[in-house]
Amino acid sequence: MDSKEFDLSSSPFSDRWWSKNTVAIVTGANKGIGFALVRKLAQSELTVILTARDEARGLQAVQTLRNEGLHVLFRRLDVSDPLSINAFAAWFATNFQALDILVNNAAVSFNDIYQNSVENAETVMKTNFYGAKLLTEALLPYFRSSASKSRILNITSRLGTVDKVRNMKVKKILESEDVGEEDIEGVVKAFLEDVKRGTWKKAGWPALWTDYAVSKLALNAYTRVLAKRYGEFGSVSVNSFCPGFTQTSMTRGKGTHTAADAALVGARLAMLPPHRLPTGQFFFWGPNYDIPRNSKL
Ligand SMILES: NC(=O)c1ccc[n+]([C@@H]2O[C@H](COP(=O)([O-])OP(=O)(O)OC[C@H]3O[C@@H](n4cnc5c(N)ncnc54)[C@H](OP(=O)(O)O)[C@@H]3O)[C@@H](O)[C@H]2O)c1
Repeated sequence: MDSKEFDLSSSPFSDRWWSKNTVAIVTGANKGIGFALVRKLAQSELTVILTARDEARGLQAVQTLRNEGLHVLFRRLDVSDPLSINAFAAWFATNFQALDILVNNAAVSFNDIYQNSVENAETVMKTNFYGAKLLTEALLPYFRSSASKSRILNITSRLGTVDKVRNMKVKKILESEDVGEEDIEGVVKAFLEDVKRGTWKKAGWPALWTDYAVSKLALNAYTRVLAKRYGEFGSVSVNSFCPGFTQTSMTRGKGTHTAADAALVGARLAMLPPHRLPTGQFFFWGPNYDIPRNSKL
């Protein structure tokens, strides 16, 4: 996948292509970057559906945004549960005509910054990779079909880029132009088998936050597969975005910038005008950008 540092200096918002009928879904949005993304998108007056696995936490987050005068809808969605995904997709189909933006943000990591346990590897894969993949598949029929107006933004991580893999066989599979969904699932299965066998440390998987990194590696590869399926001028654009080291629960509050900073960049990417919207790209937020604190989309 091509990777690009996202340039904030040129605002993509000179062309306002969206309206209040433009519909966006953000997963795992009761806190952190997802919550901040919903706020940014709602400030731009799109119709935003905040989703969360826990109803009470989700409703509380929605209330916070409504108290700020923002119009935000809520629906419960546990991305690690296929039944919850199907119920959500059915609700969406009943209540909306089309989907414009899907931000696959929900994720888990069970490690502290310098820990590397793989005890919860299955849950990490089920949430971070399969959750995003299954939800995307369930919602694909509802994406608006006008060229490149629909977009999927997968929130991933630089921990999950192919250069972190030291296993040459896995690297070759993931770097192949022809990588397919079965190949990616094969990689995830091979990792989980290594975890079960206790061989994961010497098998050449990414060295930091290994289970999380493999889940993001898989999601980055899936981004490429989907982007290829729709093509450069297709109806859906699919990109990955690493928000950088951000102060959220996932990092136990550590990081170089806030969730609001990361969300500003993410929202700009999600809302690029159709003529500037690429596909199959991995964007990351570089350390050199000075985020304008009061910047509006
Ligand atoms: N923070 C960083 O430095 C950093 C760096 C690179 C990438 N990222 C990525 O950025 C995204 C947002 O992370 P964050 O830093 O904002 O972390 P966070 O504050 O821990 O937020 C994660 C969100 O995902 C939700 N979630 C977890 N499992 C879920 C499930 N099964 N179904 C639905 N929602 C679920 C959490 O809900 P609960 O409150 O119910 O747990 C929470 O709302 C993630 O994809 C993460 O991998 C973060």
